Amino acid sequence: MSVIYDSQTGQYSLHTKNYSYIMQEKRGFLLHLYWGKKIMGDCSYMYRMQLRAAFSPMMEDAEGPILDDAPMEYPCWGRADMRTPALEITNPDGSIIVDPRVVGRRIQKGKPQIKGLPAVYCENDSECETLVVELYDEVSNIAVELYYCVLEDYDIITRYAKIINKGVSTVHLDRAASAAVDFDNIKYDIISNFGTHARERHIERSALNHSRFVMSSRRGASSHVHNPFLIMTSKNADEESGEAYGFVLVYSGSFTAEVEGNQYDTARAVIGLNPESFGWELDPNEEFTTPECVMTYSAEGLDKLSNNFHKIFSNRLARGKYRDVRRPVLLNSWEACYFDFDSERLIKIGDACADLGVELMVIDDGWFGKRDDDKRSLGDWFINEKKLPGGIKRISDHLAAKGVKLGIWFEPEMISPDSELYKAHPDWCLHYANRPRSLGRYQCILDLTRQDVCDYIYESVAKILREGGISYVKWDFNRNWSEAGSAMLPANRQKEVDFRFYLGLYSILERLNQEFPDVLFESCSGGGGRFDAGLLYYMPQIWTSDNTDAIERLKIQYGSSLVYPLSCMSAHISAVPNHQTDHVTSFDTRFTVALTGSFGYELDPTKLCEEEQNKVKETANLYKKYGEVLLKGDYHRLRDPHAEDCSAWCTVSADKSVCIAGYVNTHVKLYPNNDRVTIRGLDENATYKEIFSGNTYTGQQLMNFGMHIYENLEYRSHLWIFERV
Ligand code: GLA
Repeated sequence: MSVIYDSQTGQYSLHTKNYSYIMQEKRGFLLHLYWGKKIMGDCSYMYRMQLRAAFSPMMEDAEGPILDDAPMEYPCWGRADMRTPALEITNPDGSIIVDPRVVGRRIQKGKPQIKGLPAVYCENDSECETLVVELYDEVSNIAVELYYCVLEDYDIITRYAKIINKGVSTVHLDRAASAAVDFDNIKYDIISNFGTHARERHIERSALNHSRFVMSSRRGASSHVHNPFLIMTSKNADEESGEAYGFVLVYSGSFTAEVEGNQYDTARAVIGLNPESFGWELDPNEEFTTPECVMTYSAEGLDKLSNNFHKIFSNRLARGKYRDVRRPVLLNSWEACYFDFDSERLIKIGDACADLGVELMVIDDGWFGKRDDDKRSLGDWFINEKKLPGGIKRISDHLAAKGVKLGIWFEPEMISPDSELYKAHPDWCLHYANRPRSLGRYQCILDLTRQDVCDYIYESVAKILREGGISYVKWDFNRNWSEAGSAMLPANRQKEVDFRFYLGLYSILERLNQEFPDVLFESCSGGGGRFDAGLLYYMPQIWTSDNTDAIERLKIQYGSSLVYPLSCMSAHISAVPNHQTDHVTSFDTRFTVALTGSFGYELDPTKLCEEEQNKVKETANLYKKYGEVLLKGDYHRLRDPHAEDCSAWCTVSADKSVCIAGYVNTHVKLYPNNDRVTIRGLDENATYKEIFSGNTYTGQQLMNFGMHIYENLEYRSHLWIFERV
């Protein structure tokens, strides 16, 4: 049993395969006792009753707990806990207190669905046990249900909260976090991420101190800047040892992930919707459910933590036909042609794809409306017959005859002021009537809080897909928010726009998933500007970054791998000099780096010399052969590009029979490079043959001594594929 409630002691124990999460009820408060390596039995002695904490108010009867010091499971604002809360409300009388106490609990098999929101799922009820702790505030008439879903075999606990208004007047929600965890000391490092367009998810590590550490987005998207995950580790933790705690929010809009180091040397992590861009009018008898937070713990360092997230996200968050199959080798037209194409050029590229073994050609931006540059036509989702006479169908029929599938690009949440759609519906974008509308990439954002707008988007995309011939959709989102008001919502609900927008988006995506189960959807937002677990539920792969430079990708892919699986990371070989950085890297290095995700090309195959064409054939075949390993294998970061002038990693198949390992030197070493890379995750007792050299090694040798690095020049790489013999 993974959930145990002891009515004698008031203890709640959640057990996964390798860890325990333990809570205690005291005077109706739900307190946190322990999260770490597995512990069974009565843990009530772990509750520390403080009798005095100067300047921190006592309860009215001077009995404990002292709220400003107690480890609260879902801290609520307004009484005596001064730390970062999870829940804040404004009552109808203007008071800002909410003080719910435990009134009951339910333990149920399986995992409930969260209506309208993406979430981890299970395939049968035996995979998960759910604890719901029921709390109630008699003054506010607010009920709070805390959900803890324990997926024992995955070492995962997911959390979310449901807030229910049982009173007769509307209550205003000011903050409703998904999860909070109190730690009884402050000795942690925080592993966070930062980025910008074309430089996403770089990693930073800092010591937690007595202050508030905040990663967040108010951009109406999870964003390039901070990704909605947070990792805390013990001071000594590295890839293979030490404790690591991870939180990932399954949501694509504005969020916050905070850790507060407190005056009494304790720490509190809170993750959820960003209260700075959130508000919700909760009417009587209505309920509000937060997005889900996925949590895991590892006593064996970051490697294990990452693999726990990889497994749950690729097996029980991603859905649909493509979840379990190697993704097609694709070629995207963006860096090949940008807007400069017509049917003839696309057909030539498609023919080259067929010759080279590429399985899917994607027509990126520029096939619709009058879209010859990025200044117009978003919203006008009809084929530009001038550029593409005979439509998409003509191209897809041509390609199908040669065994190549076709994909197309959409940016459905946007509207160009220079478009037919804007002329017809100038009020359909997010805006405030009395304010100018800022443009981002010459475009505005449609108001997805409106049902008519959602229906238009759905129908525009569905109409094209219904015509047939399209197996893949790249779904883009190329700006962040400004003046995010809705013409349809009343004044007191304008702060609901952020969350309502995503309810709208998720409902469109759900409908499309249902109607087009055979279409592979890839999410994109100027590369990785919405690289989040929310979208992964609807689209099993995401364009990792607009930066296709192999060297720049090292840090981006390293950072992404902390929580996201390779199966969702799209990685393509692009042309040199690289269009973003002007770097020139060898084809081999570009392949080594791109062979860490859903693989493809971002170049014009008709412009390749014979040697390069052969390389495309060879690399496409290698991906076809080993793509399954990337989809399902265990991923190990071997060398950190933030800390060293190199990066190295490997992916090992579940049965340890195949290992793909890569190394890239990022800075010239004038003298011989005496470095070597040790591999992880192999079978120590097996013998492996490296397929390019034909040399054999034992698992022990590879894991303890490793492979010599001979490359000393900048941007040179090694790719090894080991097969058990
Ligand atoms: C974004 C994407 C690119 C490409 C362009 C098209 O920037 O990230 O890959 O699709 O839009 O406009």
